[in-house]
Amino acid sequence: MKAEDYLSFVDAWEGRATIRTRPRRIVENDEKLIYPLSRQPLVLSETFTRECPQLRDFALVQSLYKFINDVVIFETEIVDRTARSIAKDNFAIRFPFACRYDAMTVVVDEDYHALVAMDFMQQTIALTGIQPIQLPLEIELSRAIPAALGLAPDHLRSAVELICVAIAENTVTNDVAAFAKDDTVKQSIKGLMADHLLDEGRHSGFWARLVRIYWHAAPEQDKQSIAQIMPVFIAQYLTNDIQKSFDFVLIDSLPIEETIKQALKDETQAMSFPINRHHPLVGNIVRFFRTSSMLESACVQHALADYLPAGGVQ
Ligand SMILES: [Fe+2]
Ligand SMILES: [Fe+2]
Repeated sequence: MKAEDYLSFVDAWEGRATIRTRPRRIVENDEKLIYPLSRQPLVLSETFTRECPQLRDFALVQSLYKFINDVVIFETEIVDRTARSIAKDNFAIRFPFACRYDAMTVVVDEDYHALVAMDFMQQTIALTGIQPIQLPLEIELSRAIPAALGLAPDHLRSAVELICVAIAENTVTNDVAAFAKDDTVKQSIKGLMADHLLDEGRHSGFWARLVRIYWHAAPEQDKQSIAQIMPVFIAQYLTNDIQKSFDFVLIDSLPIEETIKQALKDETQAMSFPINRHHPLVGNIVRFFRTSSMLESACVQHALADYLPAGGVQ
């Protein structure tokens, strides 16, 4: 795909962007859950359900706070930053006006997602009276992107940044979709997730198209350097170190005996996903490499061999 062929999605944005179309959502004071059980397996663990089932809602509220905190970091520090520099033509890779205009809609959407997330945080604190425990200052991408950039030669730093953000914007979707379908969760929370998902559908295609444009024109040697960096980025992106330390802080905040805390920690320790083709986000990552056309390059197929479905690329 050539840069001149890029078509703006501005009409779709004007008609469907949640900032243009959605009223404020209010967290209901009802019996439903504030966060999906499937997203906080700690509360489903044998020790938790036996020893402290009465603390389930506290743990779910804290997990919602962590999720909101992650969203704010992701939107304002990661996606906003790259989209804004593309919009303002400060990015080392130059894009035509239509791309830059669409990049500005991404900035607006993401900052709005952060605002809505902060609103839900305040509403939940007011409704439950539960203050957040110490929340992480970083998300996985806060480490994975600098690690990838550190491996890139100077002239490829922007390309690597673009691809990393594009991967992230093509995987959050899955994350958010899990909420939208869960009927045990409060309607407002599901609505928040569904709104976000709608905007992210537009974003994922946007980022994949920018990468297509870049990849189409990139020299073979640059493609090879970038391909080498991808597995390092993916491995750091998929680690659960930050989630694990949050879970430990959460466990330590529970009013339970030390031995039970230790048992809960042992259980969460055993629950992590493997970082290979069986990780739940890998399907989305591979799909991104396909839609961005990167997977058509032999160097990318080779570099991602561990993550591709057994039997190779189809
Ligand atoms: Fe977003
Ligand atoms: Fe996005």
